[in-house]
Amino acid sequence: MERKFDKRILCIGAGYVGGPTMSVIASKCPHYKVTVADIDTEKIAAWNSDKLPIYEPGLKEIVMEARGKNLFFTTQIDEAIKEAEVIFVSVNTPTKTGGVGAGMASDLRYWENTARRIRANADSPKIIVEKSTVPVKTAEAMERILSVGDKQGMFEVLSNPEFLAEGTAIKDLENPDRVLIGAKETDSGKKAGDILVEIYANWVPREKIITSNIWSSEMAKLASNAFLAQRVSSINTIANLCERSGANIREVSRAVGMDHRIGPYFLNAGIGFGGSCFKKDILSLVYLCREAGANQEADYWESVVRINEHQKNRFVRRMVSAMFNSMAEKRIAIFGFAFKPDTCDIREAPAITITRRLLAEGANLAITDPKALEEARRAIGDQDGHVEYIDDPYKAAEKSHAIAVLTEWKIYGELDYKRIYGSMEKPAFFFDGRNVVDHKALFDIGFNVYPVGMPALTHF
Ligand code: UDX
Ligand code: ADP
Repeated sequence: MERKFDKRILCIGAGYVGGPTMSVIASKCPHYKVTVADIDTEKIAAWNSDKLPIYEPGLKEIVMEARGKNLFFTTQIDEAIKEAEVIFVSVNTPTKTGGVGAGMASDLRYWENTARRIRANADSPKIIVEKSTVPVKTAEAMERILSVGDKQGMFEVLSNPEFLAEGTAIKDLENPDRVLIGAKETDSGKKAGDILVEIYANWVPREKIITSNIWSSEMAKLASNAFLAQRVSSINTIANLCERSGANIREVSRAVGMDHRIGPYFLNAGIGFGGSCFKKDILSLVYLCREAGANQEADYWESVVRINEHQKNRFVRRMVSAMFNSMAEKRIAIFGFAFKPDTCDIREAPAITITRRLLAEGANLAITDPKALEEARRAIGDQDGHVEYIDDPYKAAEKSHAIAVLTEWKIYGELDYKRIYGSMEKPAFFFDGRNVVDHKALFDIGFNVYPVGMPALTHF
């Protein structure tokens, strides 16, 4: 007979958000039964195996500890819906590729399918928790889908945006800056909100669990990501000026970040932001602005994305111009493909745009990455033999004309660059897209070094 649990929680969508979030809830709340369901059978099989479908530091340990006890992964979505009292929805909400709002608005088909499935299977009251990033007012739309027919009043929809960052997801979930719960301002809405507060209060201090109305909660998620992305684009524009003026972006970032009103975070200049959230969320915000007739505001936020595209293009242009305007048949080692370190995720990774541009210039690429190599291979392919995928960075660098660091994996700051320099074609170029190496040391070895936001160190 099944063990008695205080609560049954279901999460629909076993991706980068649903998987880690539910694993942490299960690990912190052994008295709850936590089920994670997905339509993707391969993904669920991986969650039930020794090789989890995503890499995230600390994730495997907590999954192994809780799986089979109070944490379960399944494709039996309908049954799971029936037994759960609280259902988190963390299905993907990518940017629309066609129709009204194409390239900007979020595609809500997966959310809508899920809502319909919940409605079809539920035979008792449920709290539905919106966990995916969705544009403002989605919870309201979902409530409309859920409450047609005889199921009226059976569902209470809450917004509980996810603020975890990949690579630090477990830490962020275990020790969040805040948990935000948006609920309808009715008695039943408040009651549902309280139930979710109780779940988080198992491990999060009460003062960090804040409540608001649903729209504020949805808007706060978009605004948080837009503000973070804006910092990255802002510092990148300053970096570009530094390269031309002789100022050093590291020194500038340090000085700027020490103003406590600004703070030191998200001031690392680089090749631009990636990841599944920033661009998508800003474009959602832009779409909302345009829909509301707020065109100035839309232009303002859109420029954050434009600067980000510019940053990637500029990096490639700088490479091409440094290498005598000709990349044809030159071998370039690409160090890092993931959109950031400590993840295997390559969604919107700057590396995708940059490698495609280099291929268009006729370069041959040797791509290496500690965790995202298979994902890179799937995205770029072998391009008629012009791209190789190599685990060992030393091998990737062999006989190459240049190295480009596109992800700030710690290991790239610690390699034996003397040995690497010895195995490369000369003149050897080093393009540090994330400012991870000791530029002066590499220059002394013999490299021509091009950091971001600092003048190049060259032997010419
Ligand atoms: C982001 C938000 O941080 C998180 O709160 C939200 O829930 C989801 O979106 P994530 O996309 O996982 O998280 O990564 P984040 O750490 O925010 O980095 C995004 C991108 O910005 C990365 O490509 C990173 O390399 C880049 N970045 C970040 C910089 O270029 N410079 C910085 O100083 C910081
Ligand atoms: P995120 O980064 O938001 O977690 P992912 O793409 O990693 O996004 O995960 C979303 C998951 O949602 C995917 O595993 C996908 O298979 C799943 N999914 C999409 N639609 C449905 C659905 N209708 N029912 C169950 N799972 C779904």
